[in-house]
Amino acid sequence: MGRIPQNFIDDLLSRVDLVEVVDARVPLKKAGREFTACCPFHNEKTPSFTVSPAKQFYHCFGCGAHGNAIGFLMAYEHLEFVDAIESLAAGLGVTVPREGPEPRAGAERRSSDNQALYDLLERAGRYFRHQLKNHPERARAVDYLQRRGLSGEIARDFGIGYAPPGWQHLIGAFNGQPAQGRLAEAGLVIEADGKRYDRFRDRIMFPIRDSRGRYIGFGGRVLGDDTPKYLNSPETPVFHKGRELYGFFEARQALRDLHRILVVEGYMDVVALAQFGIRYAVATLGTAVTREHLERLFRTTQEVVFCFDGDRAGRDAAWRGLENALPLMREGYQVRFMFLPEGEDPDSLVRRIGKAAFEDLLEKALPLSQFFIDQLRHEVDLGSLDGRARLVEKVRPLLATVPEGIYRHLLLERLAEFARVAPDQLGWLLDGREPALRRAALYRPTREPRGKRRSAPSAVRHALSHLVLAPELAARAGDPSRFSGLRLPGVRLLADLIDLLQRKPGLSWGAVLEHWRGTDEGRHLARLAAEEPLIEEPELLEDEFLGALQIIEREFLRQRREELEERFRSLSEAEKLELNQVMVRERALRNA
Ligand code: UTP
Ligand code: MN
Repeated sequence: MGRIPQNFIDDLLSRVDLVEVVDARVPLKKAGREFTACCPFHNEKTPSFTVSPAKQFYHCFGCGAHGNAIGFLMAYEHLEFVDAIESLAAGLGVTVPREGPEPRAGAERRSSDNQALYDLLERAGRYFRHQLKNHPERARAVDYLQRRGLSGEIARDFGIGYAPPGWQHLIGAFNGQPAQGRLAEAGLVIEADGKRYDRFRDRIMFPIRDSRGRYIGFGGRVLGDDTPKYLNSPETPVFHKGRELYGFFEARQALRDLHRILVVEGYMDVVALAQFGIRYAVATLGTAVTREHLERLFRTTQEVVFCFDGDRAGRDAAWRGLENALPLMREGYQVRFMFLPEGEDPDSLVRRIGKAAFEDLLEKALPLSQFFIDQLRHEVDLGSLDGRARLVEKVRPLLATVPEGIYRHLLLERLAEFARVAPDQLGWLLDGREPALRRAALYRPTREPRGKRRSAPSAVRHALSHLVLAPELAARAGDPSRFSGLRLPGVRLLADLIDLLQRKPGLSWGAVLEHWRGTDEGRHLARLAAEEPLIEEPELLEDEFLGALQIIEREFLRQRREELEERFRSLSEAEKLELNQVMVRERALRNA
């Protein structure tokens, strides 16, 4: 199946009412022009979760959660993007259309095509399980599993199988069937020099399932000491290592409520932990933890504990995990780091000390902020001026990725405490631009009195936030392409936004944001949408908006003029004409 057309999503969001969508799940109370409730995404006693019917946008002043109707369903019901759309469409009784094949022909296959691969992989999984029960060599495999202490029950829950020795086993099993031709595409067969042979030979087979339980790949372990110890399916149209986690489906099957997920390194670790009753472990597939992994985990759980080796490599891997986790951190989410004793992995440790002691260690895992500070303590000497400078250098880019909200504030406070400076001072030091006052306005449920507002924001930011308040202003903005080529942060976004609003005047804010789902621009716009208006009188708003655009245009003209003046000797006739026009326009604006 192809992509869902953006037009359909726009229409869908203009037809559903976010207030109804939320209210059906989290009862809302009317409060002025908005609706409020206690936030479903973090624990609180006084409501800071607000839904704006006009903007079709929700925002929590406590934890920073925000989004439109699609985002709400994704977060509240742990749905994937497409499923959230299906759910909204079903509520309206409409079917979700799909565009034809992907525009990047061949790069991504249609999923009806993928269905054949899922089926094939599932049948291969059945085949491997069957071999574990019936193949003449099965005793060696069964012995191996027993030696590793795996019960038949766990082997069954995880669908563990056996790929027999020999080069043509699987190929033979699919002989004469149409699916045989796609074994290579599914990653089960290797084609080289005009020959085809089984990828997995004489290995214990761990099927990898996606979050819906579809078979997407395999990991195969040798029975002895050969290398490679583990062989994994290659990337295929249905298997993406940076996205999938081994054991995630099984964990969701085993436990209704996954309030904690443990991330380990190996297949065997996941399986052994499950055997000991710790059924909430998942493993990355031989890759580092990615942002995408974390996003998926946090859709299901509030707490992620990473399990790493206690050595240097483990600490380095943990630091990369921290870097990936920071942009996702918000109130209500926890990331912790557990470091294993020398020479142990979770498999060996849980076998040695048992479930209770293992879970005790889990309880003692370091919270992200603690790990953060411990690492800094190793690396910078706060006694020296130089050390403090290094601290700022190291922390600034990381902290910049943390979303605004209570979590960021608390992290900042801990860092300040560590660096022995006042939190406000550290905040100022860290992002260098925004006074701490602004952040305060965002995480406090009660809002700042207007008089204490920050200094004038930049013109681009100004124009953007005016559009958030009054999207109809876009109609007065003129042709946005006149800003193209301007080197000014955010101006590209502003031009794109004006363009969108001019083409689709009726879009709500929730629907507008959908166009920037998952991007930094989207996060920026969402932050603006969550802010309180500085001015509410429509005429004033319009004046300010047009004023901001003028400042931007002047900047554009100045940049362009300087560019042209610099090359004045080599300008073409057309460019000379342009320079003249630029100067005329500059003068007109100055006199306006
Ligand atoms: P480990 O070498 O730590 O293996 O690799 P393990 O999980 O403890 O395995 P056992 O206990 O010896 O059976 C951890 C993970 O790294 C990937 C696999 O995903 C493995 O589970 N790996 C390791 C590979 O992909 N290939 C390899 O050759 C080795
Ligand atoms: Mn191991």
